[in-house]
Amino acid sequence: MNKTDVLHVNSDTCYDIIMENGFQGLGEHVRNVLVCAHSVLIVSDEKVYGLYGDEVKKTLTECGFEVKTHIAEALCESKKTQSTVTEIYKSAIDANLTRHDAILALGGGIVGDVAGFAAATFMRGVNFVQVPTTLVAQTDSSVGGKCGINFDGVKNLIGSFYNPALVYISPHVLCSLPQRERCAGMGEVIKYGCIRDASLFSDLASGDFDISDVILRCLRIKRAVTEKDSHDLGLRHILNFGHTVGHALEEYTSGEILHGEGVAYGMYAMALAGERLKITAQGTAKSIKDLCEKHGLKTDYTKYFGFEKYISRDKKRTADGIKAVFLTEIGSAVIREISVAELTGLLYG
Ligand SMILES: NC(=O)c1ccc[n+]([C@@H]2O[C@H](COP(=O)([O-])OP(=O)(O)OC[C@H]3O[C@@H](n4cnc5c(N)ncnc54)[C@H](O)[C@@H]3O)[C@@H](O)[C@H]2O)c1
Ligand SMILES: [Zn+2]
Repeated sequence: MNKTDVLHVNSDTCYDIIMENGFQGLGEHVRNVLVCAHSVLIVSDEKVYGLYGDEVKKTLTECGFEVKTHIAEALCESKKTQSTVTEIYKSAIDANLTRHDAILALGGGIVGDVAGFAAATFMRGVNFVQVPTTLVAQTDSSVGGKCGINFDGVKNLIGSFYNPALVYISPHVLCSLPQRERCAGMGEVIKYGCIRDASLFSDLASGDFDISDVILRCLRIKRAVTEKDSHDLGLRHILNFGHTVGHALEEYTSGEILHGEGVAYGMYAMALAGERLKITAQGTAKSIKDLCEKHGLKTDYTKYFGFEKYISRDKKRTADGIKAVFLTEIGSAVIREISVAELTGLLYG
Protein backbone atom coordinates (compact mmCIF):
# COMPACT_ATOMS: atom_id res chain seq x y z
CA MET A 1 0.00 0.00 0.00
CA ASN A 2 1.35 3.41 -0.98
CA LYS A 3 2.07 5.67 2.00
CA THR A 4 0.20 8.98 2.01
CA ASP A 5 1.30 12.04 3.97
CA VAL A 6 -1.16 14.91 4.22
CA LEU A 7 -0.44 18.47 5.33
CA HIS A 8 -3.49 20.63 5.72
CA VAL A 9 -2.91 24.31 4.92
CA ASN A 10 -5.22 26.75 6.65
CA SER A 11 -4.62 30.01 4.82
CA ASP A 12 -6.98 32.52 3.07
CA THR A 13 -8.36 29.36 1.52
CA CYS A 14 -7.72 25.86 2.84
CA TYR A 15 -6.11 23.10 0.84
CA ASP A 16 -4.17 19.89 1.30
CA ILE A 17 -0.66 18.98 0.31
CA ILE A 18 -0.65 15.26 -0.45
CA MET A 19 2.60 13.35 -0.69
CA GLU A 20 2.58 9.89 -2.27
CA ASN A 21 5.07 8.00 -4.39
CA GLY A 22 3.66 7.60 -7.90
CA PHE A 23 0.76 9.28 -9.66
CA GLN A 24 -1.79 6.43 -9.32
CA GLY A 25 -3.73 8.24 -6.60
CA LEU A 26 -3.61 11.71 -8.15
CA GLY A 27 -6.91 11.53 -10.07
CA GLU A 28 -8.87 10.48 -6.99
CA HIS A 29 -7.41 13.27 -4.86
CA VAL A 30 -8.22 15.83 -7.57
CA ARG A 31 -11.76 14.45 -7.85
CA ASN A 32 -12.22 14.74 -4.07
CA VAL A 33 -11.55 18.49 -4.17
CA LEU A 34 -13.07 19.27 -7.58
CA VAL A 35 -16.35 17.43 -7.28
CA CYS A 36 -18.11 19.33 -10.11
CA ALA A 37 -15.19 19.73 -12.52
CA HIS A 38 -15.54 18.34 -16.02
CA SER A 39 -12.20 19.23 -17.63
CA VAL A 40 -8.60 19.57 -16.53
CA LEU A 41 -6.07 21.49 -18.63
CA ILE A 42 -2.58 20.14 -17.90
CA VAL A 43 0.11 22.81 -18.32
CA SER A 44 3.59 21.34 -18.62
CA ASP A 45 6.76 21.46 -20.68
CA GLU A 46 7.82 18.96 -23.33
CA LYS A 47 10.43 17.32 -21.12
CA VAL A 48 8.30 16.76 -18.03
CA TYR A 49 5.20 15.85 -20.00
CA GLY A 50 7.26 13.36 -22.02
CA LEU A 51 8.35 11.69 -18.79
CA TYR A 52 5.15 11.77 -16.73
CA GLY A 53 2.32 13.07 -18.91
CA ASP A 54 0.83 9.68 -19.78
CA GLU A 55 0.62 8.58 -16.14
CA VAL A 56 -0.96 11.86 -15.07
CA LYS A 57 -3.43 11.87 -17.96
CA LYS A 58 -4.40 8.26 -17.24
CA THR A 59 -5.22 8.76 -13.57
CA LEU A 60 -7.25 11.91 -14.32
CA THR A 61 -9.16 10.23 -17.15
CA GLU A 62 -9.94 7.23 -14.93
CA CYS A 63 -11.52 9.62 -12.46
CA GLY A 64 -13.87 11.03 -15.07
CA PHE A 65 -12.02 14.18 -16.17
CA GLU A 66 -11.78 15.25 -19.77
CA VAL A 67 -8.07 15.98 -20.05
CA LYS A 68 -6.67 18.69 -22.34
CA THR A 69 -3.04 19.72 -22.54
CA HIS A 70 -0.93 22.80 -23.02
CA ILE A 71 2.63 21.60 -23.55
CA ALA A 72 5.19 24.36 -23.90
CA GLU A 73 8.67 23.99 -25.27
CA ALA A 74 11.37 24.29 -22.59
CA LEU A 75 10.32 27.08 -20.23
CA CYS A 76 13.26 29.05 -18.88
CA GLU A 77 13.26 32.39 -17.02
CA SER A 78 13.17 34.31 -20.31
CA LYS A 79 9.89 32.53 -21.13
CA LYS A 80 8.28 33.36 -17.81
CA THR A 81 6.35 36.10 -19.58
CA GLN A 82 2.92 37.42 -20.44
CA SER A 83 3.10 35.84 -23.91
CA THR A 84 3.50 32.39 -22.32
CA VAL A 85 0.47 33.12 -20.13
CA THR A 86 -1.45 34.31 -23.21
CA GLU A 87 -0.73 30.97 -24.92
CA ILE A 88 -2.20 29.19 -21.89
CA TYR A 89 -5.35 31.37 -22.11
CA LYS A 90 -5.71 30.31 -25.76
CA SER A 91 -5.47 26.64 -24.80
CA ALA A 92 -8.00 27.22 -22.01
CA ILE A 93 -10.42 28.74 -24.54
CA ASP A 94 -9.83 25.87 -26.99
CA ALA A 95 -10.52 23.44 -24.14
CA ASN A 96 -13.82 25.23 -23.33
CA LEU A 97 -12.67 25.55 -19.74
CA THR A 98 -15.35 26.85 -17.36
CA ARG A 99 -14.90 28.22 -13.87
CA HIS A 100 -15.77 24.76 -12.46
CA ASP A 101 -12.81 23.27 -14.32
CA ALA A 102 -9.12 23.34 -13.46
CA ILE A 103 -5.65 24.14 -14.67
CA LEU A 104 -3.09 21.62 -13.42
CA ALA A 105 0.60 22.59 -13.39
CA LEU A 106 2.89 19.61 -13.97
CA GLY A 107 6.50 20.76 -13.76
CA GLY A 108 8.99 22.94 -11.96
CA GLY A 109 8.58 26.36 -10.42
CA ILE A 110 8.39 28.16 -13.75
CA VAL A 111 5.49 26.02 -14.99
CA GLY A 112 3.80 26.43 -11.59
CA ASP A 113 4.25 30.20 -11.51
CA VAL A 114 2.94 30.84 -15.05
CA ALA A 115 0.14 28.26 -14.90
CA GLY A 116 -0.91 29.63 -11.50
CA PHE A 117 -1.03 33.15 -12.88
CA ALA A 118 -3.10 31.96 -15.83
CA ALA A 119 -5.45 30.13 -13.43
CA ALA A 120 -5.73 33.20 -11.20
CA THR A 121 -6.69 35.47 -14.08
CA PHE A 122 -8.55 33.35 -16.65
CA MET A 123 -12.26 34.08 -16.17
CA ARG A 124 -11.24 35.81 -12.91
CA GLY A 125 -10.00 32.54 -11.53
CA VAL A 126 -10.39 28.85 -12.32
CA ASN A 127 -9.43 25.99 -10.00
CA PHE A 128 -5.73 25.32 -9.80
CA VAL A 129 -3.80 22.15 -8.96
CA GLN A 130 -0.06 22.00 -8.40
CA VAL A 131 1.88 18.85 -9.28
CA PRO A 132 5.47 20.01 -8.71
CA THR A 133 8.29 17.95 -10.19
CA THR A 134 11.51 19.70 -9.08
CA LEU A 135 12.99 19.96 -5.60
CA VAL A 136 12.48 23.75 -5.67
CA ALA A 137 8.83 23.33 -6.57
CA GLN A 138 8.19 20.45 -4.15
CA THR A 139 9.74 22.22 -1.17
CA ASP A 140 8.75 25.77 -1.92
CA SER A 141 7.05 27.25 -4.99
CA SER A 142 3.98 24.98 -5.15
CA VAL A 143 2.79 26.09 -1.70
CA GLY A 144 1.80 29.55 -0.51
CA GLY A 145 -0.06 30.83 -3.56
CA LYS A 146 2.52 33.14 -5.12
CA CYS A 147 2.39 33.04 -8.89
CA GLY A 148 3.44 35.39 -11.64
CA ILE A 149 5.78 36.36 -14.42
CA ASN A 150 8.93 38.38 -15.00
CA PHE A 151 8.51 41.80 -16.55
CA ASP A 152 10.89 44.49 -17.80
CA GLY A 153 13.83 42.34 -16.69
CA VAL A 154 12.58 42.15 -13.09
CA LYS A 155 11.76 38.77 -11.62
CA ASN A 156 8.17 38.09 -10.62
CA LEU A 157 7.23 41.77 -11.03
CA ILE A 158 3.69 40.96 -12.17
CA GLY A 159 1.72 38.40 -10.24
CA SER A 160 -0.90 37.40 -7.78
CA PHE A 161 -1.58 35.40 -4.64
CA TYR A 162 -3.72 32.49 -5.73
CA ASN A 163 -3.87 29.32 -3.67
CA PRO A 164 -4.13 25.95 -5.33
CA ALA A 165 -7.06 23.67 -4.51
CA LEU A 166 -4.55 20.84 -4.07
CA VAL A 167 -0.81 20.23 -4.13
CA TYR A 168 0.20 16.68 -5.05
CA ILE A 169 3.83 15.74 -4.51
CA SER A 170 5.42 12.56 -5.72
CA PRO A 171 9.12 12.49 -4.78
CA HIS A 172 9.76 9.60 -7.21
CA VAL A 173 9.95 12.13 -10.07
CA LEU A 174 13.11 13.60 -8.56
CA CYS A 175 15.04 10.56 -9.86
CA SER A 176 14.92 12.04 -13.38
CA LEU A 177 15.85 15.56 -12.31
CA PRO A 178 19.23 16.65 -13.73
CA GLN A 179 21.94 16.84 -11.07
CA ARG A 180 22.35 20.59 -11.47
CA GLU A 181 18.61 21.17 -10.83
CA ARG A 182 18.71 18.89 -7.80
CA CYS A 183 21.64 20.83 -6.35
CA ALA A 184 19.79 24.09 -7.04
CA GLY A 185 16.84 22.68 -5.11
CA MET A 186 19.12 22.08 -2.15
CA GLY A 187 19.63 25.86 -2.08
CA GLU A 188 15.98 26.34 -1.05
CA VAL A 189 16.19 23.37 1.35
CA ILE A 190 19.27 24.82 3.09
CA LYS A 191 17.38 28.13 3.31
CA TYR A 192 14.70 26.48 5.46
CA GLY A 193 17.37 25.15 7.80
CA CYS A 194 18.95 28.60 8.00
CA ILE A 195 15.77 30.51 8.83
CA ARG A 196 13.85 28.10 11.02
CA ASP A 197 15.37 24.68 11.68
CA ALA A 198 18.92 24.25 12.94
CA SER A 199 18.41 20.48 13.22
CA LEU A 200 17.49 20.31 9.51
CA PHE A 201 20.69 22.25 8.78
CA SER A 202 22.78 19.77 10.77
CA ASP A 203 21.04 16.75 9.21
CA LEU A 204 21.88 18.17 5.78
CA ALA A 205 25.46 18.66 6.94
CA SER A 206 25.68 15.06 8.19
CA GLY A 207 24.41 13.82 4.82
CA ASP A 208 22.16 11.35 6.67
CA PHE A 209 18.64 12.22 5.52
CA ASP A 210 15.70 10.93 3.54
CA ILE A 211 14.58 13.31 0.80
CA SER A 212 10.82 12.75 1.35
CA ASP A 213 11.27 13.56 5.03
CA VAL A 214 13.28 16.67 4.14
CA ILE A 215 10.55 17.84 1.72
CA LEU A 216 7.92 17.47 4.46
CA ARG A 217 10.06 19.38 6.96
CA CYS A 218 10.48 22.25 4.49
CA LEU A 219 6.77 22.29 3.70
CA ARG A 220 5.83 22.41 7.39
CA ILE A 221 7.95 25.55 7.73
CA LYS A 222 6.50 27.11 4.58
CA ARG A 223 2.99 26.30 5.81
CA ALA A 224 3.59 27.76 9.28
CA VAL A 225 5.01 30.99 7.86
CA THR A 226 2.48 31.52 5.07
CA GLU A 227 -0.48 30.70 7.34
CA LYS A 228 0.59 33.59 9.57
CA ASP A 229 1.30 36.02 6.71
CA SER A 230 -0.23 34.84 3.45
CA HIS A 231 0.21 38.19 1.66
CA ASP A 232 3.87 38.76 2.46
CA LEU A 233 3.36 41.80 4.68
CA GLY A 234 5.78 40.82 7.44
CA LEU A 235 6.94 37.42 8.66
CA ARG A 236 6.79 35.83 5.19
CA HIS A 237 9.78 37.94 4.16
CA ILE A 238 12.01 35.48 6.05
CA LEU A 239 11.35 32.98 3.24
CA ASN A 240 13.27 35.40 1.05
CA PHE A 241 16.51 34.89 2.93
CA GLY A 242 19.21 35.02 0.26
CA HIS A 243 16.73 36.06 -2.44
CA THR A 244 17.52 39.77 -2.76
CA VAL A 245 21.06 38.96 -3.83
CA GLY A 246 19.92 35.76 -5.57
CA HIS A 247 17.37 37.52 -7.75
CA ALA A 248 19.89 40.26 -8.59
CA LEU A 249 22.36 37.58 -9.72
CA GLU A 250 19.69 35.81 -11.78
CA GLU A 251 18.85 39.10 -13.50
CA TYR A 252 22.50 40.14 -13.91
CA THR A 253 23.36 36.83 -15.61
CA SER A 254 20.07 36.76 -17.59
CA GLY A 255 19.09 33.46 -15.99
CA GLU A 256 22.47 31.75 -16.40
CA ILE A 257 22.41 31.25 -12.63
CA LEU A 258 19.46 29.05 -11.61
CA HIS A 259 17.06 30.24 -8.92
CA GLY A 260 18.33 27.88 -6.20
CA GLU A 261 21.94 28.61 -7.15
CA GLY A 262 21.24 32.33 -6.73
CA VAL A 263 19.74 31.64 -3.31
CA ALA A 264 22.94 29.85 -2.25
CA TYR A 265 25.13 32.81 -3.27
CA GLY A 266 22.63 35.12 -1.57
CA MET A 267 22.52 33.21 1.73
CA TYR A 268 26.29 33.30 2.02
CA ALA A 269 26.36 36.99 1.08
CA MET A 270 23.69 37.92 3.64
CA ALA A 271 25.35 35.86 6.36
CA LEU A 272 28.63 37.68 5.72
CA ALA A 273 26.80 41.04 5.70
CA GLY A 274 25.05 40.08 8.96
CA GLU A 275 28.34 39.16 10.60
CA ARG A 276 29.80 42.50 9.51
CA LEU A 277 26.75 44.25 11.02
CA LYS A 278 27.13 42.13 14.18
CA ILE A 279 23.56 40.83 13.80
CA THR A 280 24.73 37.35 12.83
CA ALA A 281 26.83 35.03 14.98
CA GLN A 282 30.42 34.82 13.74
CA GLY A 283 31.09 31.64 11.78
CA THR A 284 27.56 31.41 10.34
CA ALA A 285 28.65 32.38 6.84
CA LYS A 286 31.38 29.72 6.90
CA SER A 287 28.84 27.05 7.97
CA ILE A 288 26.53 28.06 5.11
CA LYS A 289 29.37 28.08 2.60
CA ASP A 290 30.49 24.60 3.71
CA LEU A 291 26.97 23.17 3.55
CA CYS A 292 26.25 24.72 0.15
CA GLU A 293 29.51 23.39 -1.26
CA LYS A 294 28.78 19.94 0.14
CA HIS A 295 25.58 19.99 -1.93
CA GLY A 296 27.26 21.20 -5.12
CA LEU A 297 26.44 24.90 -4.75
CA LYS A 298 28.87 27.78 -5.18
CA THR A 299 28.90 30.81 -2.89
CA ASP A 300 31.57 33.24 -4.16
CA TYR A 301 29.26 36.00 -5.39
CA THR A 302 32.05 38.59 -5.64
CA LYS A 303 33.07 37.16 -9.02
CA TYR A 304 29.84 38.72 -10.38
CA PHE A 305 30.99 42.22 -9.50
CA GLY A 306 28.41 44.71 -10.76
CA PHE A 307 25.35 42.55 -9.99
CA GLU A 308 24.50 44.77 -7.03
CA LYS A 309 22.95 47.44 -9.26
CA TYR A 310 20.06 45.01 -9.79
CA ILE A 311 19.32 45.01 -6.05
CA SER A 312 17.69 48.42 -6.26
CA ARG A 313 15.02 46.93 -8.55
CA ASP A 314 14.00 44.35 -5.95
CA LYS A 315 10.26 44.10 -5.23
CA LYS A 316 10.99 44.09 -1.48
CA ARG A 317 12.20 47.69 -1.81
CA THR A 318 10.52 50.29 0.38
CA ALA A 319 10.78 54.09 0.26
CA ASP A 320 13.74 53.94 2.66
CA GLY A 321 15.57 50.95 1.29
CA ILE A 322 15.13 47.25 1.33
CA LYS A 323 13.64 44.75 3.76
CA ALA A 324 16.64 42.53 4.20
CA VAL A 325 16.59 39.15 5.94
CA PHE A 326 19.51 38.38 8.24
CA LEU A 327 20.20 35.41 10.48
CA THR A 328 20.97 35.86 14.15
CA GLU A 329 22.29 32.29 14.03
CA ILE A 330 21.53 29.14 12.06
CA GLY A 331 17.79 28.48 12.55
CA SER A 332 16.74 32.03 13.37
CA ALA A 333 16.01 34.96 11.03
CA VAL A 334 15.22 38.65 11.51
CA ILE A 335 14.06 41.35 9.10
CA ARG A 336 15.88 44.69 9.00
CA GLU A 337 15.31 47.69 6.79
CA ILE A 338 18.57 48.79 5.22
CA SER A 339 19.52 51.13 2.40
CA VAL A 340 20.72 49.56 -0.83
CA ALA A 341 23.96 51.54 -0.54
CA GLU A 342 24.65 50.19 2.97
CA LEU A 343 23.85 46.64 1.90
CA THR A 344 26.14 46.95 -1.11
CA GLY A 345 28.93 48.24 1.13
CA LEU A 346 28.47 45.28 3.48
CA LEU A 347 28.54 42.76 0.63
CA TYR A 348 32.02 43.91 -0.33
CA GLY A 349 33.20 44.26 3.29
N1 LIG B 1 6.00 30.97 -6.35
C1 LIG B 1 6.92 30.81 -5.43
O1 LIG B 1 6.66 30.90 -4.22
C2 LIG B 1 8.33 30.45 -5.85
C3 LIG B 1 9.25 29.97 -4.89
C4 LIG B 1 10.50 29.55 -5.35
C5 LIG B 1 10.83 29.65 -6.69
N2 LIG B 1 9.92 30.14 -7.57
C6 LIG B 1 10.26 30.24 -8.99
O2 LIG B 1 10.48 28.96 -9.49
C7 LIG B 1 11.34 29.05 -10.62
C8 LIG B 1 12.41 27.99 -10.53
O3 LIG B 1 11.80 26.74 -10.50
P1 LIG B 1 12.64 25.38 -10.64
O4 LIG B 1 13.88 25.49 -9.88
O5 LIG B 1 11.69 24.29 -10.32
O6 LIG B 1 13.08 25.36 -12.15
P2 LIG B 1 12.30 25.14 -13.54
O7 LIG B 1 10.86 25.33 -13.38
O8 LIG B 1 13.03 25.96 -14.51
O9 LIG B 1 12.56 23.61 -13.88
C9 LIG B 1 13.87 23.17 -14.08
C10 LIG B 1 14.07 22.27 -15.28
O10 LIG B 1 13.90 20.93 -14.85
C11 LIG B 1 13.07 20.22 -15.78
N3 LIG B 1 12.33 19.27 -14.94
C12 LIG B 1 11.36 19.57 -14.05
N4 LIG B 1 11.01 18.47 -13.38
C13 LIG B 1 11.75 17.45 -13.87
C14 LIG B 1 11.85 16.07 -13.56
N5 LIG B 1 11.13 15.52 -12.56
N6 LIG B 1 12.70 15.32 -14.26
C15 LIG B 1 13.47 15.88 -15.24
N7 LIG B 1 13.45 17.19 -15.55
C16 LIG B 1 12.59 17.96 -14.87
C17 LIG B 1 12.23 21.25 -16.45
O11 LIG B 1 11.88 20.83 -17.74
C18 LIG B 1 13.15 22.45 -16.47
O12 LIG B 1 13.96 22.41 -17.61
C19 LIG B 1 11.89 30.46 -10.64
O13 LIG B 1 11.27 31.21 -11.66
C20 LIG B 1 11.52 31.00 -9.27
O14 LIG B 1 11.33 32.40 -9.30
C21 LIG B 1 8.69 30.54 -7.18
ZN1 LIG C 1 13.09 30.87 -3.88
